[in-house]
Amino acid sequence: MRQRELPRTFRVKSFGCQMNVYDGERMAELLADKGIAPALEGEDAELVVLNTCHIREKAAEKVYSDIGRLVKAGGDHPPMIAVAGCVAQAEGEEIMARAPAVGMVVGPQAYHRLPEMIDRAVRGEGATDTDMPADAKFAALPARRRVAPSAFLTVQEGCDKFCTYCVVPYTRGAEISRPAADLLAEAERLVTAGAREITLLGQNVNAWSGEDPKGRPIGLDGLIRAIAKLPDLKRIRYTTSHPADVTDGLIAAHGEIAKLMPYLHLPVQSGSDRVLKAMNRSHSAESYLRTLERFREARPDIALSGDFIVGFPGESEAEFAQTLQLVEAVGYAHAFSFKYSARPGTPAAAMDGQVPAEVMDDRLQRLQAALGRHQLAFNRASVGKTCAVLIERKGKKPGQWLGKSPWLQSVHIEGEAAIGDLLEVELAAAGPNSLAGELRVRAAA
Ligand code: 5AD
Ligand code: SF4
Repeated sequence: MRQRELPRTFRVKSFGCQMNVYDGERMAELLADKGIAPALEGEDAELVVLNTCHIREKAAEKVYSDIGRLVKAGGDHPPMIAVAGCVAQAEGEEIMARAPAVGMVVGPQAYHRLPEMIDRAVRGEGATDTDMPADAKFAALPARRRVAPSAFLTVQEGCDKFCTYCVVPYTRGAEISRPAADLLAEAERLVTAGAREITLLGQNVNAWSGEDPKGRPIGLDGLIRAIAKLPDLKRIRYTTSHPADVTDGLIAAHGEIAKLMPYLHLPVQSGSDRVLKAMNRSHSAESYLRTLERFREARPDIALSGDFIVGFPGESEAEFAQTLQLVEAVGYAHAFSFKYSARPGTPAAAMDGQVPAEVMDDRLQRLQAALGRHQLAFNRASVGKTCAVLIERKGKKPGQWLGKSPWLQSVHIEGEAAIGDLLEVELAAAGPNSLAGELRVRAAA
């Protein structure tokens, strides 16, 4: 690698999950602290951080096409490139061998050391850091300064579940929970920095455990209760949960804490017990449905969301039909669905009965049609309700604003508003992906 000057501008591009969005924001704060300015819209940055996702093959391959594009666009002055995130963790130094333009490779638990790595890259030394675990990372990050009205807060990282298709236990490492006191302090700073809503993040967020100030053990519901006491914080969400870690306390919290939004993302992956067992999911279709029922008893209007994988090795047509049946039984407000992607090193990649691509395509289409139907039905059933909408950004048309309902639906409104306002809105019309609302009065809460 050649020597170069300290870059003056940076851009962080985050792919994949919301935790990557959070990590991307934290990296941006580190770079700003180092005196590197965020590149303006449309401007080429002198340092580009690709914060990557390894969950499916398509996501993982994207990084190499992005690197190629950056090098080509840079001509004689290509940007300094850092690969961060889960591809960095999984592939380490191989990335530099495959893409020599990359000067830094930094895993998700080591990105607090990015500033030193930049200094080394400036001296012409390539740097790789994929150390685990994360305990040092959060303490080494700068304080939160300015954030959007809806902010993320990582409370738990890693996963010990080892679903047989999934790379997360290898890329993000073992489950760790950040201490409650640190999280309360960060939540407070987020609110001071402009957050009105906080989404607590974790690969298995409901496996979070910690202690209250008296040293008594608390779970995620206890943390939510503590954070809910911040007066200027109006909304709390959490994602992603695992059915095996749902507690009575968490379910009860949905009925008791007004700031906890009526929304639950609880991935199921399949409606077939045989497939669930082969996935090592530790729940059945039936036990999953019972869990959802209990959330609905605690909070009857709760919007339900999930994740699905079609074409897991050996999945038969009849087993896929059970997934469709489960979708009908639940009536999801929203869901994510994916074709199975064999990931190197995972047990499922070596299983018999890999499903042909065209069968997966067909199943995904049918599943998405069903999920889309339910999403539209959920949105239509919301029409006529009056609810608080948190304004997150300007809409495309002049005078238009875009915000979120308590059920995480996108709502367009027209009229006088500002980013961060919580407005009382009557939901007036529904489409598959958003609703139109009519402004009523400025909500106090
Ligand atoms: N192939 C397809 N989808 C996957 N997911 C995780 N691993 C894979 C894989 N190998 C999906 C699961 C998970 C979501 C984050 O990504 O549905 O819940
Ligand atoms: Fe992956 Fe399963 Fe852990 Fe979710 S619970 S991160 S799907 S191993």
